[in-house]
Amino acid sequence: MRKPFIAGNWKMNMTHLEAIKFIGDVEYKYENKNDCEVCVCPPFTALRSVKNIIDSNALDIKLGAQNMYYEEAGAFTGEISPLMLKSIGVDYVIVGHSERREIFKETNKIVNKKVKAVFVIGLKPIMCIGESLSIRESGNAEDFVLGQLVECLSGIEEKDIINLTLAYEPIWAIGTGKTATSKDANDMCSAIRGKLENLFGKDISEEIRIQYGGSVKPFNISELMSMTDIDGALVGGASLKVDDFIAIVNY
Ligand code: PGA
Repeated sequence: MRKPFIAGNWKMNMTHLEAIKFIGDVEYKYENKNDCEVCVCPPFTALRSVKNIIDSNALDIKLGAQNMYYEEAGAFTGEISPLMLKSIGVDYVIVGHSERREIFKETNKIVNKKVKAVFVIGLKPIMCIGESLSIRESGNAEDFVLGQLVECLSGIEEKDIINLTLAYEPIWAIGTGKTATSKDANDMCSAIRGKLENLFGKDISEEIRIQYGGSVKPFNISELMSMTDIDGALVGGASLKVDDFIAIVNY
């Protein structure tokens, strides 16, 4: 039985003080009637302060980072290592978000190195895959997404894979207000699960959680969550509004 998993990706939003206020407001109104796993992913500069508030209020919310570099330490100016994230209490790391792939030119090979590094240090990746509008319109979305999956998971060991979360995020649905239909989203998540079964066997494929991401809002979450192969959501814009985020958690 896969526990539903709702994660908020704050992207490059909120200063340190705004983040502190935000998580305090979440704490005040927090309710989790579906007993989901819930995670917030603030920018690096707010991670530790948000963690302090989560801990001091015994809030049942996990902490995620939005990115990291795959080396442990060294001459990599401007980068943050998995060890640094682990040492401040981070649980999850988003890896391979389409904005990183498009703007910062991250390839499947880089994403693969990052996923491995996340596992080596004992954190859990939320690995994003998804197609562009032109690929969707050309009819090759499934091949493309499954190709990303295979390349990004190359060489990952079975003992680690169980701690993977996938986020299927069609690029054309991110921040646009256009959600994939629940059926299209679920069809892709089922195809992903089928590929996981080929790669790692049925038992493992049944345990890995697959989130949908792309314009998830309070009004569309319950239909998405009713689908057989959608186990949660990676939420961008709506995770920046306290009431919307809590409504999504309580879909
Ligand atoms: P959105 O972003 O919910 O604002 O579309 C989702 C994401 O990029 O993870």
